[in-house]
Amino acid sequence: ARLFLDTADVSAYDELLPLGMFSGVTTNPAILKKDNVKCTVDSLHQLAGQAFKHTDEFMCQSWGKDASELYDTGMKLAGLDKEKIVVKVPATVEGIKAAKRLLEEGVRVCLTACYSAKQALIATGLGVEYVAPYLGRMNDNRKDGFDQCYKMHEIVGGIGGKTRVLVASLRDVVNMQVLAQKGLDTFTFSPRVARQLLEEPLTEKAAEEFEEAVKG
Ligand code: E4P
Repeated sequence: ARLFLDTADVSAYDELLPLGMFSGVTTNPAILKKDNVKCTVDSLHQLAGQAFKHTDEFMCQSWGKDASELYDTGMKLAGLDKEKIVVKVPATVEGIKAAKRLLEEGVRVCLTACYSAKQALIATGLGVEYVAPYLGRMNDNRKDGFDQCYKMHEIVGGIGGKTRVLVASLRDVVNMQVLAQKGLDTFTFSPRVARQLLEEPLTEKAAEEFEEAVKG
């Protein structure tokens, strides 16, 4: 699986990224706001620097009122490190145009804020690296988020390009497990969900018993 930590909280980077199970970090302007990080190119570059202490992939979202602004911001964001930074662009009409131009410049792109399986066709048409459906928010909007994710996975797999489905707006470990059982393998989730994933008292207890046994 490819797991990403969905946060701008640097203390969570230091706590969770050294576990080694995360491929990288993801953020967006709403997450920056929640974690009191300014949505500027400079502060994102600083944040990326913190993440790169432990990992090699940092996804941050572009912003702007139209394709031209989304492209310009995206180019600046990617400027720090074109190998390790993935620029997220919302799958709006303007976002799609910006994504196309960013790809032409060799920028790694994630098409985000997806609410329908059909948007996987846009992502594969463009040839972006990631397409991000919002599981929780689809469910909030009375859509069957699981079904949309399964369909996206089928579309992307059937087409066979390089696009991966990155499930976002994941609020519960069980939801992720259910999707993983059906073959989805790329997820981003908060530190809270990460701690849920790690929590298994019986494993901790078994490990303590092994330590006791070592002592004889
Ligand atoms: C997107 O990358 C995030 O996962 C999303 O903004 C968080 O989702 P939520 O606020 O709907 O839980």
